[in-house]
Amino acid sequence: MDATTDIRPAEANAAATAAAATDAAAGLPADFLWGVATSSYQIEGAVAEDGRTPSIWDTFCRVPGAVVDGENGDTACDHYHRMPDDVALIAGLGVDSYRFSIAWPRVQPGGRGPANAAGLAFYDRLVDELLAKGVLPWITLYHWDLPQELEDAGGWPTRDTAHRFADYAELVMDALGDRVRHWTTLNEPWCSAMLGYDQGVHAPGRTHFPDAIKAVHHLLLGHGLAAQRLRAAAPEPIQLGITLNMGNAYPASDRQADRDAARRADGLGARLYLDPLIHGRYPADVISDLALRGAEIPVQDGDLAAISEPLDMLGVNYYSSHVFSGTPEDGEPETRPSGEPYSRIVPQNLPVTAMGWDIIPRGLTDLLTRLGRDYPGLPLYITENGAAFDDTADADGRVQDDDRTAYLADHIRAVAAARAAGADVRGYFAWSLMDNFEWAYGYDKRFGLVRVDYDTQRRTLKQSAEWYRDTVRRSREQR
Ligand code: NOJ
Repeated sequence: MDATTDIRPAEANAAATAAAATDAAAGLPADFLWGVATSSYQIEGAVAEDGRTPSIWDTFCRVPGAVVDGENGDTACDHYHRMPDDVALIAGLGVDSYRFSIAWPRVQPGGRGPANAAGLAFYDRLVDELLAKGVLPWITLYHWDLPQELEDAGGWPTRDTAHRFADYAELVMDALGDRVRHWTTLNEPWCSAMLGYDQGVHAPGRTHFPDAIKAVHHLLLGHGLAAQRLRAAAPEPIQLGITLNMGNAYPASDRQADRDAARRADGLGARLYLDPLIHGRYPADVISDLALRGAEIPVQDGDLAAISEPLDMLGVNYYSSHVFSGTPEDGEPETRPSGEPYSRIVPQNLPVTAMGWDIIPRGLTDLLTRLGRDYPGLPLYITENGAAFDDTADADGRVQDDDRTAYLADHIRAVAAARAAGADVRGYFAWSLMDNFEWAYGYDKRFGLVRVDYDTQRRTLKQSAEWYRDTVRRSREQR
């Protein structure tokens, strides 16, 4: 397969207009779930209120150079104080569901011990507010804000953190389980482990690959232990899942070296998580690749049984895909000094978002059909998809973001194409409800359907929000 031409968008898509986007949801079923998503640290602010203790992100943001312009989540979108208005905004978009995360250090300060009633009260009100407006709450328990005290005790590379997470999960279930049916344990464990403990570009900013692999295992173990406890404590049956970030890994050519490079990338990025979660085993080829880099997965008896606690659904966060080559360029050695085979991402010269990420809707179709094929019987939800662009607002804060609308429309069409090819995709959450704190990029990168003016905290619907609202409404009219 020549991936370089295969993933290129059709000319018409690249130039999509709002008019051309009207049919984006065609082919999706009447009960398809539409939503918008956020996460606690990215929007809440109020970091020292009502008993919340610092998370690793509060600490990391203070490290000089860690976040663009030294920004932090101290105020963010001030959602903690504006929650009812924000819920009204969500309801106004006409979506079925709102995916948000709970800040662990808010509800269980320090990451262990009893619940903090004042912190829980916020989520209690949020859930009530959503239900009163007919919006289904979809909870993510961990979207990267580990209590700093648990990091001080070793963080995710330490086994105990998995047990602490299971305790915390049960405590949230005890408080909200009477009203919440949809539960996601972890958001993007690859990012927590690899960006946080290997690349050091996310909190806690560590750079030790073997520790990052220990973190992978303890995140998955935490997921499994929490899943068992959540099911046991739930007053009614729940829909339980985990969210993984994935792209489709394309080989640059049919050559064996390129196919191997794509397989290795897919191994470390996707199968290292999917296989233990769904099949109860780590993939043998990934274990050997890890050994070449001096890393070992610290599996103990019973871990894989816990990790493979059955899932009701898998959350997929999709933004882009990559093409991989295992063919050395002129003068490059075929293996690294460690013995690891050569591998590189091949630039595609495609349209990109403001993050510099290639726009490859086709990758979402390919990813979803592959998941349906390799992990059959598991309902899939797109728990995040969206794009940052360099928005320009007029004097009223209005943004004519045709680029974002086109991105969303093309990816929603890609979901419909995957369904037509047999993938059991049941819902789609746009990332994000509103502009927010984009981690190490600070506030510069705007992913929102809604513009946030950070000086005034004024929210203004972008054109893409209106388009999304209309798309959801039209899709509803089929019901
Ligand atoms: C995935 C993460 O879950 C979310 O927090 C982040 O803002 C988006 N990707 C965009 O980078």
